[in-house]
Amino acid sequence: MNAEESVDLEQLMFVDEPMDGDGPRVHPAWLPPEAFRSLGARRVLLHGEGLLVDTVLDEVSRACARYGGLVWHSPSWDVDVDLVLALRDAAELPNPSVEAARAAGEAALVELGDGETLGDEGFVLARAGDVTVVLADAPAGLLYGLFHVVRLCAAAFDPARPPEWHRPALRRRMLNHWDNVAVHPVMGQVERGYAGGSIFWRDGRSRGDLDRVREYARLLASCGVNAISVNNVNVARTEALLLTERLGDVAEIADVLRRYGIRVHLSVSFAAPVLLGGLSTADPLDENVRVWWAATTRRVYERIPDFGGYLVKADSEGQPGPFTYGRDHADGANLLAEALAPHGGVVHWRAFVYNHHQDWRDRSTDRARAAYDHFAPLDGRFRTNVVVQVKFGPVDFQTREPISPVLAAMPATRLAVELQVTQEYTGQQRHVCHLGPWWSEVLSFAPWGPGGRTIADVVTGEAGAGGGMVAVANVGDDPFWTGHPLAQANLYTFGRLAWDPRRDPTAILDEWITLTFPPSATADAELVRRTLHEIMDDSWRTYERYTAPLGVGFMVNPGDHYGPGVDGYEYTRWGTYHFADRDGVGVDRSRASGTGFTGQYPPYWAQVYESPESCPDELLLFFHHVPYGHVLHSGSTVIQHIYDTHFAGVEEVTAMRRRWQRLNGMIDPSVYERVAERLEEQVRCATEWRDQINTYFFRKSGVPDERGRDIY
Ligand code: GCU
Repeated sequence: MNAEESVDLEQLMFVDEPMDGDGPRVHPAWLPPEAFRSLGARRVLLHGEGLLVDTVLDEVSRACARYGGLVWHSPSWDVDVDLVLALRDAAELPNPSVEAARAAGEAALVELGDGETLGDEGFVLARAGDVTVVLADAPAGLLYGLFHVVRLCAAAFDPARPPEWHRPALRRRMLNHWDNVAVHPVMGQVERGYAGGSIFWRDGRSRGDLDRVREYARLLASCGVNAISVNNVNVARTEALLLTERLGDVAEIADVLRRYGIRVHLSVSFAAPVLLGGLSTADPLDENVRVWWAATTRRVYERIPDFGGYLVKADSEGQPGPFTYGRDHADGANLLAEALAPHGGVVHWRAFVYNHHQDWRDRSTDRARAAYDHFAPLDGRFRTNVVVQVKFGPVDFQTREPISPVLAAMPATRLAVELQVTQEYTGQQRHVCHLGPWWSEVLSFAPWGPGGRTIADVVTGEAGAGGGMVAVANVGDDPFWTGHPLAQANLYTFGRLAWDPRRDPTAILDEWITLTFPPSATADAELVRRTLHEIMDDSWRTYERYTAPLGVGFMVNPGDHYGPGVDGYEYTRWGTYHFADRDGVGVDRSRASGTGFTGQYPPYWAQVYESPESCPDELLLFFHHVPYGHVLHSGSTVIQHIYDTHFAGVEEVTAMRRRWQRLNGMIDPSVYERVAERLEEQVRCATEWRDQINTYFFRKSGVPDERGRDIY
């Protein structure tokens, strides 16, 4: 297609009908109908039974109805096909070429799988003559195989395509929705939500818009997510009731998600026995409390047989927990684990526990130390169906932080790493900030030293027994799902990294671009692809350049955490300080003279982080308080680095805005406009960051910019 041909982009990109009757049209994200063109033009045979097989049938039927292909479900007569999707244990079909394809799939499995089974979710893809075959042991594997075929487009039908074997590295790939049922007076409908209201709840009740939930489930399944919690980790009164009186609302959501292989989890209040059960205590060692949790959990499973389990934030930022009763977090987690165990459920217990009433005058308390201090001593005490869910960094989802030492300190505990897809500290979906490269750095970090096991290995665990990956979701009822249309890529990337944490994030982004902006639906596919890579690939580092420098973190406006507020948290109780004075900046966390946090790492990194000479530049101010004239490994001084990166960051954002303009008329106009609008805001906000940070440090240090640029 060339630029002269007129393309009705909306027609190609959007689903035909608005999803909720007269409501606004919802963007199809990375599953526009056009992405199914290649599949939909084929003759497809599906063989097997089950709920998820029906889902596959529905997907294939819709694609074929649109693009002229044909579908058969376990036919008892001979048909010519291009694609076979079959369960391995399904009966033989009276069709020699289909059976030959299945045999080729089996042979590929023996060759590639090294005797291992495909498991609940894996699949194999192979070619036999003119036929492509996808085989799976279980229906979920067929669903994932189908979406793989969609991603491959025509390449799935390339006669020369070698066989492939896929199985998720992590068993649980989970999103946490921080959605409130009742609108919270400060946090609103979705805590740290930047994409409108909740897709599940509105003004105190269920939205009942299950079509939208279904579309969401499709998107998640297509990138590999298989679990979600549907309410905020801060559990208020109305939300607590989801466990009991309002369980029906959760069951309705579960019914929809189940069709896409996704299990529902619930955030619960540790005080539920008191709040809901009328008991006088929630003490984890009290017999009545144990009985209450067992009975309540049994009722949950009666209603939702495949319920995933509980998610708990305890003794943190005002949430109740075992400390009230003089018990520790193993006592607390094991209580719920015991109730869930007979039903196969799991408790995700968060390690985000710290004192949020710190005194800024007290230099000895260090929030970064808290999770390790609370949890490392408990290693080995958690039941096997407890997953301790650890934020990736020791503080709080910053643009740059070291990796949490807890992830290397609990070898006898199932650990999950928690990421934040919602961009609380990374531009709140008003800024382009593609987080794939950052998450990839987190996952490939080797806490015992280079070449050793990585965070990906820790959360995978032996034989897949690790705790998996979890992320705070970034989706709301916004027509683009994520506010900023390009923030959809973060959600997609999370799912794909959770499927395979070792994948290259740029390749994942490329996949997302191809699906979201199908080459056949744009006048110049190469220009679209190149432009999106130029804008997004390095956007996390760009964001880092114009915000808090060298790993020091925060410097955001208190409360909403958007935009610069250099001293916003400096004299508050939250424990996030930078200690800038006229001579220098940064937090001394060394063992020699600081809070001793460096000592929480295994020896290799404990030593690297201990001295400013060996500490990596990007984390220098996280670990050390240094003079402005301190020379970095880059050769620049700290103060000149601050100036240079802040000027560079704004220039990069200005370039993003200019590049985006190339796509005017080339892609769906509503996406174009929304992104253009957000880039204006990003330029404004980045400029504000640059000027406030540079001016602040110039005034503190009195050191002029070597290059004489404008500092106020
Ligand atoms: C951050 C965030 C809170 C959230 C908390 C958590 O502190 O600002 O809104 O509740 O993380 O992870 O529980």
